[in-house]
Amino acid sequence: MFTPEVISTGPVRLRLPREDDADAITRAFTDPLITRFIAGAPVPYVRDDALAFVKTAAQSWDLGGAQFAVADPETDEWLGGAGLKPVDGQGTYSIGYLVAPWARGRGVASAAARALTEWAFEHGAARMELLADIENVASQRVAHAAGFQREGVRRGWEPRRDGLRHDMAAFARLSGDAGHPIRPYLPFLPGGSLTDGVVRLTPITVADATGFHEMLSDPDVQKYHVPPEAPPFDDLVARCRKTGMWWLAGERAEMAVLDAGTGEFAGHIQLAQVLPGLGQAMLGYSLLAAFRGRGFATRAVNLLIRWTFEHTELARVIAGTDPGNAASHRVLERTGFAREALLRDFLPGPGGVRKDDLQWVHLRP
Ligand SMILES: CC(C)(COP(=O)(O)OP(=O)(O)OC[C@H]1O[C@@H](n2cnc3c(N)ncnc32)[C@H](O)[C@@H]1OP(=O)(O)O)[C@@H](O)C(=O)NCCC(=O)NCCS
Repeated sequence: MFTPEVISTGPVRLRLPREDDADAITRAFTDPLITRFIAGAPVPYVRDDALAFVKTAAQSWDLGGAQFAVADPETDEWLGGAGLKPVDGQGTYSIGYLVAPWARGRGVASAAARALTEWAFEHGAARMELLADIENVASQRVAHAAGFQREGVRRGWEPRRDGLRHDMAAFARLSGDAGHPIRPYLPFLPGGSLTDGVVRLTPITVADATGFHEMLSDPDVQKYHVPPEAPPFDDLVARCRKTGMWWLAGERAEMAVLDAGTGEFAGHIQLAQVLPGLGQAMLGYSLLAAFRGRGFATRAVNLLIRWTFEHTELARVIAGTDPGNAASHRVLERTGFAREALLRDFLPGPGGVRKDDLQWVHLRP
């Protein structure tokens, strides 16, 4: 059982929520991100909801949890909230937090999560869990900044306002962990995209799913796709929702190739099968038929390769092509890849046959 106290650390002060925080709490809870990612937050949120929350926060301590206001250390102004729920009787707690829109982007949540976690460890907690919606990348970055390691995905964890049970990215920090901030193996794109003025690469989103599905339904793309059929549209939407989570986890970087002039979806490019231990990742790309033959693939690969060797520690980017895919061979030759090996019967093809795969490599220049 925790006892309420004030935790002061650098950029934040954790103290008990008070009735005079109610106006700030009410204003914060009109924010669409809080409505989206805090399950159970009343909509619309009125001052009485904030007053009720202050009361519940006081009671949470008697139930074995803890609920703090995250306050400005200078002015004591309410900036957000952070709390703990006991998960079991074995010393595992679950941490939650939110920051008012006007206090975001300056490390408030990361400092609060770290302070609360380390305080709980000092008071006997053994394991701290943190669950963030798979699309809540800001919260997942907070987890890394506070020293939490990613453990996987809890599927269909929580029913949300949209009536669906959402998948959650699961993180945990143990009392014995060093707790250093975790630096992503794949950094995000500088400024959010890469462009040479003709094509633009952006992390692929649900808004790209229609173009992505159209492209994967093209028999000329399916011929070289693994597995050799288009996934159902809903599977692609689910995949696009995970882009930020996979990127942050260092598992893969999936991008839409856009026409820089019009913003139209032209294709897809990715670094997948990222193996940090080997310093190797695999490149893959495809274009919609209307955008082929215009140098888009060469431009997209050039942009991605330059970013890879400037911003990541990868030493080898490999690519695999069908031995008969002359257009793709041309793209790889033009962008500095060299042929490396022929892997026989490497890939599953249509109708249960196996297909050879010509492997290429681009070494760190
Ligand atoms: C998640 C939340 C608490 C973050 O608060 P914050 O004080 O801005 O967090 P921090 O400044 O400590 O760190 C946020 C990180 O996310 C990044 N970020 C912010 N918005 C982002 C976005 N849309 N996509 C990717 N990263 C984003 C920031 O750049 C920062 O990373 P950096 O420190 O590496 O630059 C805040 O956005 C919030 O209250 N959201 C609504 C409620 C919520 O989601 N709570 C968590 C539920 S699990």
